[in-house]
Amino acid sequence: MKFCSRNCLGRSFATTLAVASLPSQYASAFVPNHLMATSLSLVSATNSNSIGYRGGSSQVRNMSKMDQTFETWSFDEPCKTMSWTEISEASLSVAGLSDNWDDSDLVLIGVFAPKKEESDEDEDDKKEEEPTVEISGEAKAYDEKMGGALSNLMIENFKAFKNGASAGSVTPTLRVFADGKSQRIALVGLGTLDEEKDDFLEGVGSAVGKALATTCNSEKKAKTAKILLPEAVGSSADILKDMSTSFYSTLYADNRFRSEKSKETPAEDLESVTIVVEGSSADGADAALESGKKLAKGVHMTKDIVNAPHNVLNSLSLAETAKRIAEESDGTIKCEILGVKECEEFGMGAFLGVARASETPPQFIHLTYTPPDGVVKKKVGVVGKGLLFDTGGYNIKTAMMELMKFDCGGAAAVLGAARAIGQLKPEGVEVHICVAACENMINGKGVVPSDILTASNGKTIEVLNTDAEGRLTLADAIVYCDKEMGCSSIIELSTLTGACMVALGSGMSGVFTENDDLAKELEDCAKVTEEKAWRMPMEKSYNEQLKSKIADLKNIGGRYGGAITAGLFLQNFVDKKKPFAHIDIAGPVWDFNNGVATGYGAKLVTEWITRQGK
Ligand code: BES
Ligand code: MN
Ligand code: ZN
Repeated sequence: MKFCSRNCLGRSFATTLAVASLPSQYASAFVPNHLMATSLSLVSATNSNSIGYRGGSSQVRNMSKMDQTFETWSFDEPCKTMSWTEISEASLSVAGLSDNWDDSDLVLIGVFAPKKEESDEDEDDKKEEEPTVEISGEAKAYDEKMGGALSNLMIENFKAFKNGASAGSVTPTLRVFADGKSQRIALVGLGTLDEEKDDFLEGVGSAVGKALATTCNSEKKAKTAKILLPEAVGSSADILKDMSTSFYSTLYADNRFRSEKSKETPAEDLESVTIVVEGSSADGADAALESGKKLAKGVHMTKDIVNAPHNVLNSLSLAETAKRIAEESDGTIKCEILGVKECEEFGMGAFLGVARASETPPQFIHLTYTPPDGVVKKKVGVVGKGLLFDTGGYNIKTAMMELMKFDCGGAAAVLGAARAIGQLKPEGVEVHICVAACENMINGKGVVPSDILTASNGKTIEVLNTDAEGRLTLADAIVYCDKEMGCSSIIELSTLTGACMVALGSGMSGVFTENDDLAKELEDCAKVTEEKAWRMPMEKSYNEQLKSKIADLKNIGGRYGGAITAGLFLQNFVDKKKPFAHIDIAGPVWDFNNGVATGYGAKLVTEWITRQGK
């Protein structure tokens, strides 16, 4: 065997060896910067703003200056825990209209645009609309008290604001000095008031919640805020719950990997927000707001999991996260973690094949939710793809590898939902939440293209592309929910194919199921939670593409229709008669513009689970 004698290679090889043989605490001192940057996942800085890295350099640095986030890191061991982002401490409550309802630093006034007569709409096309303003109820009285300031605000912003016709749009803020106090005032659009249409309030709750949060954040130093909503909004539990979920989820910011100086807390000074609904009682309102907040905690969980880089969130720290979710569920969730041995006993050869080349051992996470009263009408399975990182394996990725920390998006959605249901405690349903957690890496033990793996239902799979790894891990998780747990219907979420993104764009998931009822259920849930999902075909003839010359199946199909062949592949691991849906979330998991997790799926899964027990 010949060694490459090129200088640069020889040198970095020698440096690596030198470092490897040193006690770990000295390692960083000897690693040249260019080497650190390439061989360490999260690059460290050498000043006190350092966020730490895999090396055990903390001992040679001033500990008091180090951020606490990575206290468990060491050179030899993978990170054992992931910190969680807490929900905003600002309180949200509902109050009836009183004399001093406007007594706060920030006053928001919700306005509906009046319904247009059809002839008016025709007029629209002909000429520029004259700014006419209509405000009613308490807002009108307030406008008068302010000397017509609100009407002016509407006229000045008419183009964008149009009497409030687009739900969630906010006017610029007015600063006023009244009764010896300085206040900020803005209008929030509520959409068009059309009480004949029974869905005229659809989406208004979440639009208002988001507008509330963004305005409270942009209006720095505001401690108290109130929003006045006209009678037509009412105070139905659904609308308040949506408002609360959207308010708290909008205030999410991931500060876990920033040093003190660069942390930014949204609406930092905000203490309380009061929703004042005209003409309706606040009965049951607090409970509705509270459930919205619980759901937002689930969404936070999902974002935290997807945002965490692989050197923080590996299979072990994900399993630890699942344990903590169970601990916080008042005994409604039980957590079981299967290690390599147990997975071997179940014959999970497909999952274990993918996991072979990782530093951290695979962890099969199984959470069981039982309602507090123990009454179970239905037993369902919820599976999430838990690839903490996807390099592609030997079929190494040539594009978008840096995004592949989001390959645990399915796991994040189902664990987010687990956190939410552990607090919301839905009735009548037992839920088995399963994640086959591992990483798709490369080492001497890794699966190579052409290897044949045997899944836990006995089917053999010829691995022709190690980058089609998600379906291999999911196969064993689905068999577990179906055969071991006996779930009567199963849904599965995964960032499974780039092809699904190509087909649908990044704004929606693809739903693959042969069961029309389940497709309808999921469509209804997605509508309510405002997470777009689109049903895709399960074209049976494409099964031909999955036939292997040497094994039962191969793990990839042909060049086209890759999202469909992935869905068809999974169908091989569940009882044909059982309702099963695969939801490909490769697109909506990530906000590509802002480079952050969207939290997609937590609400959808929670909604679906909650409906199963009814
Ligand atoms: N996790 C990826 C899917 C993915 C890729 C999601 C890019 C979002 C963006 C998955 O494991 C994968 O690599 N799929 C392959 C399948 C192919 C090899 C049949 C893909 O989509 O390219
Ligand atoms: Mn892959
Ligand atoms: Zn993947």
